Amino acid sequence: MKHLTGLYGLPPESLVDLLDLAASYRAGLKHANPAFQPMLGNRRVALVFFENSTRTRFSFELAARHLGAGTLSFAAASSSVSKGETLSDTIRNLEAMQVDAFVLRHPSSGAAEFVASLTDRPVVNAGDGTHEHPTQALLDILTLREYFGRVAGLRVMILGDILHSRVARSNIFGLKALGAEIAVCGPSTLLPGGISELGIEVFTKLDEAIAWADAAIVLRLQLERATGGYIPSLQEYSASYGLTDEKLDRLRKHLPVLHPGPINREIEISNNVADRIQPPGYSSSMLLEQVTNGVAVRMAVLHRLLAD
Ligand code: NCD
Repeated sequence: MKHLTGLYGLPPESLVDLLDLAASYRAGLKHANPAFQPMLGNRRVALVFFENSTRTRFSFELAARHLGAGTLSFAAASSSVSKGETLSDTIRNLEAMQVDAFVLRHPSSGAAEFVASLTDRPVVNAGDGTHEHPTQALLDILTLREYFGRVAGLRVMILGDILHSRVARSNIFGLKALGAEIAVCGPSTLLPGGISELGIEVFTKLDEAIAWADAAIVLRLQLERATGGYIPSLQEYSASYGLTDEKLDRLRKHLPVLHPGPINREIEISNNVADRIQPPGYSSSMLLEQVTNGVAVRMAVLHRLLAD
């Protein structure tokens, strides 16, 4: 593996290898002052973010530092991009400063593959448009694997704005490769045409999807990508597709609930579902567990791309 631009086409062995390595780092992160081998000492990782981010950016930064690498942060608004510099010139200039790897977030689908075609340094896609977000899916899959002890045979329902979601796409590719069953649920206007051809279940009624599922990944309504017209109103969306205690209790269904964040509280997920931490067997929010797993997954990815 030279770059990680997506989970599409990645062999199951590579996914399992990354998850196993991430799980070993996750065990280390349980300690208050985790110490890891600084195997990336003297390496420099450039965090090139053309879109806003809290979790992804911080966790890549922490992951690099845990392994001894230095990080350089780049935010488009405060860089020469605001003076009209192109993406390729930006990358070539960072390369000339001997940066060893690029972690890229960009609003255009395909941006990570474009950068990978320009440079021989490893490129990690931290989310490109509506295309892929491979490390988010890996951390979601690690969270499910730690909770259930397996991935194969699990029924995972992805709920909400599938049309604009790079997280949904990466999860579909990764989970399918590992033998999980997948369903998507949302209003038909937020489901991509031809989605059932991916060999997944499609629900437009949330009750049916809840009854089917072992776990739920709730997606943020991507208000910045959707220019309107997809849903009648936020209130109607939330009445039909918002995940609430009442809807779970009505079906007596207990699910671990994941969400990549940031969350729109009381729109796609209710406060009590987002905040409730329960032992297995009850509906429980996995949101903060996912965030910690994100650091472990990004350590595993940087380790494989830069140290091996
Ligand atoms: C996701 C993203 O940016 O793609 N969030 C994240 O990485 N934590 C999902 C989203 O923005 O809804």
